[in-house]
Amino acid sequence: MKSTTDFSKMKANGEKISMLTAYDYPTAQIAEQAEIDVLLVGDSLGMVVLGYDSTAHVTLDEMSHHGKAVRRGAKDTFVIVDMPFGTYHGSADTTLQNALRLFQETSANALKVEGSGAVIDKIKLMTTAGMPVCAHLGLLPQSAGVSGGYKVQGKTAAAAKQLIEDAKACEAAGAFMIVLECIPFQLAREVAEAVSIPIIGIGAGAEADGQVLVFHDMVRYGNHKLPKFVESYAEVGKDIEGAMRLYNLAVKDGSFPSESHRFTMKEEELEALYG
Ligand code: KIV
Ligand code: NA
Repeated sequence: MKSTTDFSKMKANGEKISMLTAYDYPTAQIAEQAEIDVLLVGDSLGMVVLGYDSTAHVTLDEMSHHGKAVRRGAKDTFVIVDMPFGTYHGSADTTLQNALRLFQETSANALKVEGSGAVIDKIKLMTTAGMPVCAHLGLLPQSAGVSGGYKVQGKTAAAAKQLIEDAKACEAAGAFMIVLECIPFQLAREVAEAVSIPIIGIGAGAEADGQVLVFHDMVRYGNHKLPKFVESYAEVGKDIEGAMRLYNLAVKDGSFPSESHRFTMKEEELEALYG
């Protein structure tokens, strides 16, 4: 399994880091086989798996439940679990309690939190307690309700300057990695140059130190609308629907199950049954 220092070395060597979300056991197993560097149990779980209309509904119990499944499927891959909405915004005590619980229950390698400002102190608190933290800047889905929705961030010089300062603050607070979501590619390049920890982009261009995508977007699984920055490498949803239609038809027309699927009782047992 790669370590936080391996990721820093990869950045220093110009070697890109691949991150992908996962929410269950089989996906985690496949991702490990496919040699993905980092698995993120994102709170996008709420939207792509649980059908909520925002990540703000996701609970600590749900993150723990799915984090455990991913860990069981990918024992040798670095796993990051998202701290859900509201679990790191209260007092230092409750934040630490929540973080420790999620970290221990899931056996994650790290936790991720969104934002800067008051969150910087929480990053420091968690890393001081021994939990590696991945920061998340740019578009922040958990607070999209107050920040004006899902829009490209850091487009003005002032906003870009603030974002660079925030990234430096995350690094100073002990974060080992930063996810940067939905910002101009020029800004992602600036941020990647401003800090020595890896920048993992999503909708942030090719000059980040690595990339992350949501699994369901990457394989087109689900009806949700895909953002501009997504590339899909499979059409899993269509394949599944096709399989379901074939199964449905086969049951109705009696072609499933066939002789090859059935179990047989010996003739003598049948005779004994009928007397
Ligand atoms: O929850 C998630 O999937 C994320 C990624 C989009 C970075 O936070
Ligand atoms: Na997330």
